[in-house]
Amino acid sequence: MSLLITGIGELTTHDPGLGVLTGAAVVVDGDRIAWVGPMGGAPDADERLDVGGAAVIPGFVDSHAHLVFAGDRAAEFAARMNGEPYTGGGIRTTVAATRAASDEELLAAAGRLVAEARRQGTTTIEIKSGYGLSVAQEARSLRIARQLTEETTFLGAHVVPAEYRDDPDGYVALVGGPMLAAAAPHARWIDVFCDRGAFDGDQTREILTAGAKAGLGLRVHANQLAPGPGVRLAVELGAASADHCTHLGDADVAALAGSDTVATLLPGAEFSTRSPYPDARRLLDAGVTVALATDCNPGSSYTSSMPFCLALAVREMRMTPAEALWAATAGGARALRRDDVGVLRPGARADLAVLDAPSFLHLAYRPGVPLISTVLHNGVPR
Ligand code: NIG
Ligand code: FE
Repeated sequence: MSLLITGIGELTTHDPGLGVLTGAAVVVDGDRIAWVGPMGGAPDADERLDVGGAAVIPGFVDSHAHLVFAGDRAAEFAARMNGEPYTGGGIRTTVAATRAASDEELLAAAGRLVAEARRQGTTTIEIKSGYGLSVAQEARSLRIARQLTEETTFLGAHVVPAEYRDDPDGYVALVGGPMLAAAAPHARWIDVFCDRGAFDGDQTREILTAGAKAGLGLRVHANQLAPGPGVRLAVELGAASADHCTHLGDADVAALAGSDTVATLLPGAEFSTRSPYPDARRLLDAGVTVALATDCNPGSSYTSSMPFCLALAVREMRMTPAEALWAATAGGARALRRDDVGVLRPGARADLAVLDAPSFLHLAYRPGVPLISTVLHNGVPR
């Protein structure tokens, strides 16, 4: 089954050879893009969709989300908006609720969030574990995540759970040993929350090194709450992504700039914790590859909306609209080491969003407005 999408007023491809096209068409064959070019030259297809001058963009690649959990923490959010700081301590509240939930409840709740993200243009989403924090519970969270995405991440090292409070090194050994063994068959990635109140540099190194030996790719929650070794460790160990990057020194920026490690910025977290935003301009000017993602989770960033994060990045982080769109699509693909998403060119996945707007600029220009009219995922409109 092939589909000709025509009448595209503005097509952002993120392919260096194709660029941004006006008056364009795209042909989709099965789950792939077959052809991209000017409207007049489009080949025939089985079906036809005229989008009437709308803008079309690659589907968003949300490379950082925590969707397997139960309950919410709205009261914690309200307390923060009344002056309480965010410490990550509330993670244990969600762990208790998650452990008590059934598999069916967790899958249904995560599935609802994936569907919510999809309606807002997200076609690739990474999902982390990290609210189970025992061997059986982390394996269960990843089995559930695997039903929703290929991009699953083992985050047993989210915080030290209450039952290991007096033996954090025992917990690190558990994460890097039996928990990793149970998680690895269901995970593509391993992540550690390397920060104040979570795991230090030595613990992070131990867990990531074990994860790499088990064949997992590396990602790090780094420098969110305080300066620390997370970003430099991510670069040294060849992690695909260092996420948050809020508190950076010059050495951190230089390390990222000379590496293949993507800096994934999560402005929903700064919004929701009322914290200063990361300095995207400084990273971009230094030549760092930047991605944007939602960090969707019930504590620090309960949004599934990539358009919202993109608008924040433009308004609060001095990114241009074009830089923010790239970071939310092609940048996320880099952070997941994927070359088949985040870009619209022949051979790429047929993952795209049609906007109810003549230009992608409207994503930041009209914040909070639902501008995603049609989403194609693997070539299927949904
Ligand atoms: O990325 N920083 C660590 N983990 C999450 C927050 C999780 C939570 O508060 O439940 C984050 O912001
Ligand atoms: Fe996170």
